[in-house]
Amino acid sequence: MRRLLPVSFVVLAACAGGRAPEAAAPRVGAARAAVLAGRARIPTTWGMAGRARTVAAARAMVVSGHPLASEVGAEVLKRGGNAIDATVAVSFALAAVLPDAGNIGGGGFIVYRETAGRVRTLDYREKAPAAASRDMYLDAQGNPTDHSVTGHRAAGVPGSVAGLYEAWKQHGTRPWAELIEPAIRLAEGHVIDAARHRDLADDAERLARFPASRRQFLVNGRAPARGTTWRQPDLARTLRLIADSGPAVFYRGQIADLIVAEMERGGGLITKEDLRRYRAAWRSPIQLRYRGHLIYSMPPPSSGGVTMGEILNIMEGYDTLPPFGSAAYVHREAEAMRRAFIDRNRWLGDPDFVRMPLERLLSKSYAAQLRAQIDLRRATPTPPFATDETDGAHTTHFSVVDADGNAASVTTTLNNSFGSAVTVTGAGFLLNDEMDDFATAPGKPNLYGLVQGEANAIASGKRMLSAMTPSIVLDTTGRLLMVVGSPGGPRIITAVYHVIANVLDHRMSLADAVAAPRLHHQALPDSISLEPGGFSPAVMDSLRAMGHGVREWGYRGLVMAIQRSPAGWVGVADPRSGGGAVGY
Ligand code: DON
Repeated sequence: MRRLLPVSFVVLAACAGGRAPEAAAPRVGAARAAVLAGRARIPTTWGMAGRARTVAAARAMVVSGHPLASEVGAEVLKRGGNAIDATVAVSFALAAVLPDAGNIGGGGFIVYRETAGRVRTLDYREKAPAAASRDMYLDAQGNPTDHSVTGHRAAGVPGSVAGLYEAWKQHGTRPWAELIEPAIRLAEGHVIDAARHRDLADDAERLARFPASRRQFLVNGRAPARGTTWRQPDLARTLRLIADSGPAVFYRGQIADLIVAEMERGGGLITKEDLRRYRAAWRSPIQLRYRGHLIYSMPPPSSGGVTMGEILNIMEGYDTLPPFGSAAYVHREAEAMRRAFIDRNRWLGDPDFVRMPLERLLSKSYAAQLRAQIDLRRATPTPPFATDETDGAHTTHFSVVDADGNAASVTTTLNNSFGSAVTVTGAGFLLNDEMDDFATAPGKPNLYGLVQGEANAIASGKRMLSAMTPSIVLDTTGRLLMVVGSPGGPRIITAVYHVIANVLDHRMSLADAVAAPRLHHQALPDSISLEPGGFSPAVMDSLRAMGHGVREWGYRGLVMAIQRSPAGWVGVADPRSGGGAVGY
């Protein structure tokens, strides 16, 4: 008889609140290492084995989703800019060279650690327009429509320009306009590589539905060919305006006018007032302790830090870990992930709107309760619900360490690949479809198969819950060890967890840790997703025999990571992607 997992495991009482917007340098506790046989190896038969390139550098490093953007960041660092200067330059460069995810029409998060130890996080997540309402994406029968994913109504109020300016104002050292200059150059023309040709070709049909997107991204209705120079004059002009006038032009000036005109053209909701009111917010980081390491990650409105924290806390209680890739190990991880995602989907939302029991969810005692409920021989089913997930990898993460040891972990997104597919006519940039990250239809799955609750219901001016998990890991002496993050919707959380666990628990090299096959469980759908070819048929059979749904799913999470090395830093771009690391 299979036991159903109760939706709530315990009554949760304590509520987070009143935290300082930054964290002081930590005192690190005694290490509690897992008992492992030694350095784990990833199977040589695994398609990614040996494919991650490690770039080493003595002083500074940038790893991003596009080699040209990493070069831009490394140049800024070489000229004496700091990690936030590089963050601004890389972000705008990504808007020009990685249009499926790099953006000025979306939002993101920065986890920033100064070399002296202070850590701050910046939330420039999009917000629901004032006119948004709870059931705005349901049809007359109460069924979800696709208006939260494609078209004008899918867009939240963009946060990227406000956020990058805020980060720069507080921490930047180089002139603002100088940091945008490389992006303008790239928008004026750069050579399309194979990965970007493929991304544009994959979404050509969707982009072609909107005239401004067709003009902006397609040449005679098709993706620009690999090796050809791609020019984006409207985007170059927009970037020039932002370089000259800062966020005022975007939120109150000419660009705001163009955004609102676009909304009126397509029945979208964003108004001049929505843009005028948008502000980025500094928030206190989530601090996690894992086997003597301190990890900083993103708090709500991201679910990343809390959900990864629950997974890590559950796993930390296993003093002895089964071998990497074994059914026994996958089972523990999947059951930890399942429980963490149930809490995520139930409790988490925008901290400006909902009270969340964060301290309780992140306590070691709560993790012990969850761990005690894991049957080591059997899967614990989540209450059944038929859901489907779509494939996609179109958020983007980059990691930066500058010559002084300041570190920025930055994840930014339009949500879906190319966001809502709507380009602002005359301004040359895409609007996000972040509204789909809300629980658009309570009890029904969103684009990523997430079934979420009241805490993440749509409300006017509210931020939609995210899974983005930009993170920074310290070593057991409190020194910067890793900067890491990924795209992948809910798989972001588990991808970042895996890389951290692979390095800390399995003592893999960063290249192996990033390349290693991953698994994912998000409670609903109630099955383990395994990277195809990464786990043996015998392991999959054992998991099925334990009662798990098991499926292979070729999703490719794109981790961009930096790790301290004896000679400085190593950077690794996920071999599943067209990213790149550049250091000096
Ligand atoms: O913020 C979030 O959680 C999503 N909008 C991220 C989307 C994403 O990573 C797309 N890649 N698969």
